[in-house]
Amino acid sequence: TPLQAHNSFGISAKALQLVRVRTEADVQAVLADAALRDVPKFVLGGGSNIVLTGDVKPLVLKVEIKGMRLVEETDKAWVVEAAAGEKWHDLVAWTLDNGWPGLENMALIPGSVGASPVQNIGAYGVELQDRFHSLDAIDLTTGQTFSLDAAQCAFGYRDSVFKHESSGQNGLGLAGKALITRVRFLLRKDWKPVLGYLDLERKMAETGISQPTAQQIFEWVCAIRQAKLPDPAIIGNAGSFFKNPTVTQDQCDDIIAREPKVVHYLLDDGRIKLAAGWLIDACGWKGKTVGNAGVYDKQALVLVNVGGKEHPCTGGEVMTLAKAIQTSVYERFGIRLEPEPVVV
Ligand code: EPU
Repeated sequence: TPLQAHNSFGISAKALQLVRVRTEADVQAVLADAALRDVPKFVLGGGSNIVLTGDVKPLVLKVEIKGMRLVEETDKAWVVEAAAGEKWHDLVAWTLDNGWPGLENMALIPGSVGASPVQNIGAYGVELQDRFHSLDAIDLTTGQTFSLDAAQCAFGYRDSVFKHESSGQNGLGLAGKALITRVRFLLRKDWKPVLGYLDLERKMAETGISQPTAQQIFEWVCAIRQAKLPDPAIIGNAGSFFKNPTVTQDQCDDIIAREPKVVHYLLDDGRIKLAAGWLIDACGWKGKTVGNAGVYDKQALVLVNVGGKEHPCTGGEVMTLAKAIQTSVYERFGIRLEPEPVVV
């Protein structure tokens, strides 16, 4: 099965074996099948956070489970549930249409609901973990269904238990071991807008609106993202390609002494987060290419497929470009950038 339409980079690769999963029973059927039960598996959602470097040998489980519903309403909150195969942005729009605010800052993030907890997606001051209630998943070894709350998901910055191999130390780690089927969100009735982000402050100043509604923020976030992030339907990409690195105050002072303009934010724990996009931009990477992989010219943190559908970049070109960027940022700033997408 060709995967070009199933990864947002638009990289051309094949799945040697692919099963579309539309219900929980479809997963159980795979696990009950003697020929499929024990083969390695790869769970594919929207394909918006992966780099395919070749044909995918594990059995691809393409998650297409649909449905969104209100599961509970109390005087304090709404709990909504979405199936893993729903598009993330459709969930955001649906909750706002129903008058349930809370997800607006995360509008227009590409990808599926099922993938959203894996890397704890976030944007404009709100992360998935801030709105998360619980999720259901299927253990791909035993077929057992289980639920996790936020603590059990071990969320971190673009991180969760689903990104880690199980380690002997704490035993936790579900990378490649589970298929997320449904995710629930807790949307509080005492909603307050999250407006600390510079781009949103600018919108407030431009429009003169100081008390925006959730719908207003939704529209602002859509406009901001459309202005500076490439639409994967037009220019293939996987969002931010590197995580924003954190450094100590001392390391930061050292960099500021050499590079006074470095964009940085103070974190709650006293460490400093640096804007990886700024570091890459400062090294002159905007618009540079390796084969048909390139650095987006409006946001240096985003790597793009400049060859389109006809002459797509390869995963190898993307990784060569990424390594060259890592080397140059390390040589100039002494900082190691970590890729965000999963390399397959
Ligand atoms: N900057 C530059 N040059 C660039 C790019 C950025 O100087 O080429 C500077 C900007 O001027 C800005 C700063 O770097 O002051 C930060 O840039 P931006 O506001 O665009 O955000 P980001 O840190 O690059 C992060 C997330 C995005 C998220 C935005 C908004 C990560 C890795 N990325 O990007 O998430 O949408 O903040 O909250 O944390 C994603 O994860 O795929 C993603 C797109």
